[in-house]
Amino acid sequence: MHMPGHKRQPLPIGQLPLQLDITEISGFDNFHQPEGILKESMQRAARLYGAERSFYLVNGSTGGILAGIAAATKPGDTIIMVRGCHKSVYHGLEIRQLTPVYLQPALDDSFSVAASISPQQVEQALEEHPHAKLVLITSPTYEGVISDIASIGEVCHKRGVPLMVDEAHGAHLGFSPWFSGGAVQAGADIVIQSLHKTLPSPTQTAIAHWQGGRISVEEFARQLSIFQTSSPSYLFMAAIDDCIHWMEEHSATAFAEYQKRMEQFSFKMEQLQRLRVLCYGKDKLDYHCNFFGFDRGKVVISTKGTNFTGNQLKDILREEYAIELEMAMGDYALAMTSVLDTSVMLEQLAEAILQIDRQAEPAPMQTIQQLPLPKMALPPWKARLQSYKEIDIPESEGKVSAESVWAYPPGVPLVTAGECIDVELLQQLQTLQNQGVELHSESDSLPYKIRVLQGEL
Ligand SMILES: Cc1ncc(COP(=O)(O)O)c(C=O)c1O
Repeated sequence: MHMPGHKRQPLPIGQLPLQLDITEISGFDNFHQPEGILKESMQRAARLYGAERSFYLVNGSTGGILAGIAAATKPGDTIIMVRGCHKSVYHGLEIRQLTPVYLQPALDDSFSVAASISPQQVEQALEEHPHAKLVLITSPTYEGVISDIASIGEVCHKRGVPLMVDEAHGAHLGFSPWFSGGAVQAGADIVIQSLHKTLPSPTQTAIAHWQGGRISVEEFARQLSIFQTSSPSYLFMAAIDDCIHWMEEHSATAFAEYQKRMEQFSFKMEQLQRLRVLCYGKDKLDYHCNFFGFDRGKVVISTKGTNFTGNQLKDILREEYAIELEMAMGDYALAMTSVLDTSVMLEQLAEAILQIDRQAEPAPMQTIQQLPLPKMALPPWKARLQSYKEIDIPESEGKVSAESVWAYPPGVPLVTAGECIDVELLQQLQTLQNQGVELHSESDSLPYKIRVLQGEL
């Protein structure tokens, strides 16, 4: 006579191992105050990653990011963060009423992807905003670009400011020299990883790591229990536990073999004539002077200088080769590989890219410019409290946006609530639309309308 309501009877959908879908009855520990099997399991995860404490997350990295921000800041504080942060970080700003100071990464010349954040940029931001309470960096980025977390951490810690790293895409880093760059080993105070993105673990499973004592671990644990369900799924927790066991036992061999498969993939990519793959084939990490590192799990295929857009490449791969990519944007498309991709799967991907390359024609290169950040009229949380109206896009020039606009994926905001809409921004929206990039706003009224603040600011 206890939850869950299905009472572990087979469901019509079948397949789920519902005998594992228990709840926090005696002997099964308590997710939010673990003292038994869950505590032991999380301690094993902490040992595996080299953290002082690790916490399982059952609603993805999102819950961990919100909790980390809330644990490190108080309402009204300033936070230094990468402009391209995931939207969960922006939601954290809003909930905690924070004022953001944005770090804008350089744009890589040859692939037009955001490069690493440099320690110098962080140092300068901290000098200009000495009262900032947290620095938040995404590393690796969606496209696989890694920042120098160890040096950024030193810069932050010298001033007593904690560093949080959104490593949602990097749970697999640090298990072999070829997949190096993990933020826990580099000394970040809180590191959030989605296990489901790059390791064998189901959607929504993630993990948070804590170390260093600059952020209270009790407060972090308390915030995690605010942002996560009071009915944690034992299916998810069992899957995380399994994933950690698997990594303990197999990561050394599995990642060495993964490396070999990716090296073979790279060897094939050397034949490319027009398409290019970031840090693979003839392209080398050394050619990207603004990259500190690169996650070899990501395959970023550039169509720059060819007659294809990234979206067209993605469509061709789906329709003609039955290969579904992770995302496409502008003039590149992204394939996410993992340690579980077999050599057959990677060979099929390589073969398909080579065949499409043979059909590609040269075309003028589109140069993508890094736009200056829109001017902030109000911090996003304040803008959210104002009344707004929805107007036609061409009329919005000179107004203050009441909503965020994203190119999604990868979810980087082009404008956020409280920022001024200028002519450059309107032109950029038009260009992205022409390139077939999906633009989203909260009101979902793009490409025709946008919400702007009304009345006195
Ligand atoms: C960089 C980054 N951070 C955080 C998240 C959120 O992760 P999750 O979906 O596990 O909540 C994502 C998801 O796409 C992401 O790309």
